Amino acid sequence: MIIGAGGRLGSALIGQYRDEFSVAGLNHAALDLGDARQLRDKIGALDVDLVINCAALTNVDYCETHREEAFRINAEGPRVLAEICRDKNAKLIHFSTDYVFNGEKREPYTEEDAARPISVYGESKRAGEENVLAVQDRHLVIRVSWVFGPDRASFVDNIIKRAQENEEVDAVADKFSTPTYTRDIAKILPKFFDVDGEGGILHFANAGECSWREYAQWALDCCQAFGVALKTKTVGALKLEDMARLPQGYGARAPWVARRPAYSVLSSARYTKLAGNSPRAWRDAVADYIKCFYSKK
Ligand SMILES: NC(=O)c1ccc[n+]([C@@H]2O[C@H](COP(=O)([O-])OP(=O)(O)OC[C@H]3O[C@@H](n4cnc5c(N)ncnc54)[C@H](OP(=O)(O)O)[C@@H]3O)[C@@H](O)[C@H]2O)c1
Repeated sequence: MIIGAGGRLGSALIGQYRDEFSVAGLNHAALDLGDARQLRDKIGALDVDLVINCAALTNVDYCETHREEAFRINAEGPRVLAEICRDKNAKLIHFSTDYVFNGEKREPYTEEDAARPISVYGESKRAGEENVLAVQDRHLVIRVSWVFGPDRASFVDNIIKRAQENEEVDAVADKFSTPTYTRDIAKILPKFFDVDGEGGILHFANAGECSWREYAQWALDCCQAFGVALKTKTVGALKLEDMARLPQGYGARAPWVARRPAYSVLSSARYTKLAGNSPRAWRDAVADYIKCFYSKK
């Protein structure tokens, strides 16, 4: 059962697993993760051996001013899901975020690094991780970063759209993490489906790291290489500290209310050890996405 089946990641998982597994999905309209009673009635009644939770309140700035709602959906809902799964001897795979870190490190964060969130979103997601693992340490929490894919627009799509419509485009040049393709997550996840398999926290991101400006520039470079028409080919630099001062409506969801970590690259070393392979480079994943979904060549 995939919860959050209408979101960017949930849609990708459903699409990938439809032919291979006996899988069903519930989107937001069908199930409110913030309603414990609904969870017990709807998930409690199912015969499932694996629940994958992709649902979350993901708007970082909205969370900042809606703390109670953020914790109800991102922390309490996952706890109830974890209990339902434990009682059924089913496994819960729950998704979390690089925003559980404060961003003060300058090398990739491992699963052992202390989580010290600096936003309500990060705090609520961290509480969700702790709640899930306190119920059952065989459940698996997978932290991902800068998720992109064809099922819902994200940063990369916003940049391409802006470059198609404007003579100038800019992006933050002093904030670093790693873009991660939903289809790559979908490919590796079945390695962890076994109820008695790995539990705890696992980081997964495409390989390498970049700033948002580098990510945006690479996206425009790929568009050029694959014949996607643009009005501008170069991405200007913004500073992280400027984002709170931008005018309403500037870029996606500006101005920012919540703080974001300046550096939140996730180390996939534990994943590589467990799976016996490394994630592909973020540049290859982004190029693949643009070639598949933007190029008419
Ligand atoms: N996107 C990223 O860059 C990123 C980075 C790091 C980690 N993550 C994590 O990865 C996971 C998947 O994120 P995503 O990129 O797929 O985000 P997404 O596209 O925003 O999907 C989240 C889904 O959750 C649904 N949802 C929100 N509130 C709900 C509720 N009360 N009950 C049920 N469903 C609800 C949303 O439905 P509506 O849209 O209809 O509200 C949406 O379909 C999340 O755990 C997120 O925290 C994402």
